[in-house]
Amino acid sequence: MEKKIAVIKGDGIGPEIVTEALKVLDKVGEKYGHKFEYTDVLMGGCAIDVTGEPLPKETVDVCLASDSVLLGAVGGPKWDTLPGDKRPEAGLLGIRGALKLFANIRPAKLIPALKGACPLKEEITENGLDLVIVRELIGGAYFGKRDTHVDENGVKTASDSMAYSDYEVERIARVAFDMARKRRSKVHSVDKANVLDSSRLWREVTHKVAAEYPDVEFSDILVDNTAMQLVHNPAQFDVIVTENLFGDILSDEASMITGSLGMIPSASLGEGTLGLYEPIHGSAPDIAGQNKANPIATILSVAMMLRYSFDMAAEADAIEAAVDKVLNNGYRTGDIMSEGNKLVSCSEMGDLVAAEI
Ligand code: IPM
Ligand code: MG
Repeated sequence: MEKKIAVIKGDGIGPEIVTEALKVLDKVGEKYGHKFEYTDVLMGGCAIDVTGEPLPKETVDVCLASDSVLLGAVGGPKWDTLPGDKRPEAGLLGIRGALKLFANIRPAKLIPALKGACPLKEEITENGLDLVIVRELIGGAYFGKRDTHVDENGVKTASDSMAYSDYEVERIARVAFDMARKRRSKVHSVDKANVLDSSRLWREVTHKVAAEYPDVEFSDILVDNTAMQLVHNPAQFDVIVTENLFGDILSDEASMITGSLGMIPSASLGEGTLGLYEPIHGSAPDIAGQNKANPIATILSVAMMLRYSFDMAAEADAIEAAVDKVLNNGYRTGDIMSEGNKLVSCSEMGDLVAAEI
């Protein structure tokens, strides 16, 4: 097969980790007879430096004309003082919106070889941790109406409105239920229906969708309780579906529980097969350019791309198995290093994984 991939290397460690992910993808292409064609485009801080905009129109056009998009990371202290709509993060929100990527899939899984990195007591994680957060990605407070104003008394007020329409809840709920059917058939829908109207609508719609999936075990859970349950008994979760802001927060919490933020990939999907794939970690400006970053989350993001956008399950399995093999052989980047293992650089990690394909 031939596939066109738009590549957004981004800022900080972005270029390093994407280079390693493409190394692995090229190896997959060679081994399985696919041709992956890459087009580099700018987004985030590097785009601001060159064009003055975090998301140039050309980037959106190239992404829309591609079969999928691979993203490293955006942002850094250099651009932190810019106004909200000119920051690198605005580019990320903009591309999600422009490509209509409403479903963000974030798996959090305890990898046996990295068990030691989990910050929870062993008695809490003895039943494992293997969940997926399905986060609504283009609605809610991140895309609602914003306002900052000063009134006649000099009082400054800022607001962000969290709005959801029924169809937005319905389509993300379906993604979660379909995913649960391929996993352990369990969905927790997270909301704050004891306080928020948008959550009450969320609950009404998710219940309607749940009725169409009688084979899937379904429950509501409040977001504050979810935060608590994630550290109390994470094994109870299979698929968690939630709105944008809650999903942003809970996915960081869940990833921390795995002990290895540098390991977690993500997929952002819309109605079609075009998706955007990126590690969930940030641009780590403190170690940028030092060949120290962990490229595994980006490599695993490529595996998700193969699985979800290209329907190449065997190829995706091959990448995941290669990563497992390299970890089982004791190779570690600094962020996941522990006693008795072998410390490798970002590019060495890419070489090791590519060699196992
Ligand atoms: C994420 C990030 C982004 C988000 C930021 C950088 C805009 O935290 O992907 O989780 O909040 O969606
Ligand atoms: Mg986040």
